[in-house]
Amino acid sequence: MKGRIVFATGNAGKVKEIQMIMEDTGMEVLSMKEAGISVDIEENGTTYEENALIKAREVAKYTDAIVMADDSGLEVDYLNKEPGILSARYLGEDTSYRIKNQNLIDRLEGVSDEKRTARFVCAIAAVLPDGKELTTRATIEGRIGYEEKGSHGFGYDPIFYVPQFGKTTAELTEEEKNQVSHRGKALRLMKEELKRYENTGC
Ligand code: IMP
Repeated sequence: MKGRIVFATGNAGKVKEIQMIMEDTGMEVLSMKEAGISVDIEENGTTYEENALIKAREVAKYTDAIVMADDSGLEVDYLNKEPGILSARYLGEDTSYRIKNQNLIDRLEGVSDEKRTARFVCAIAAVLPDGKELTTRATIEGRIGYEEKGSHGFGYDPIFYVPQFGKTTAELTEEEKNQVSHRGKALRLMKEELKRYENTGC
């Protein structure tokens, strides 16, 4: 595959992750900052895909490169899939994750293991130079723990327990998490979608 990708995020960790995943394609991946683009985008969509597309479309106005964006969140089944697409804004954008995480643990007090199921969801959107739009979505299934564990990752990672590993995602190394995470899987699906579009034109 040829060309450049601008990833519509201010998060350097996300840019590094997509750079690692796209490495074998020979495509160059730039952050918005590296591409010299600075925009403030309101994420007012009602789905992860919509929010990712809103970000990608806005940034695509300023570049001829492929633009990619993501949107993600945590769904707790017992809480009717809260905090969902409002995950970053749950209890207020500036509230610490120590407080957000403890609040979720408290809301699950007395709830059995089997009913503590949850998942991280990630949608990736791509807007191509010809105007074509692609989206992918992936999840990682887990359970909400009883206390925070681990110091890697960010956000809700310390309370997101993955039975397959017997650990929270905050106890996994960056590489281990990228292999199984919602974002890693959605990005690899997007890589396949881009290849397919390049080869078939549809
Ligand atoms: P955004 O996709 O950058 O808007 O962020 C969504 C929010 O979902 C983050 O701020 C976190 O609260 C949560 N989230 C999404 N992915 C993860 C993850 O891998 N670990 C922990 N929290 C996450």
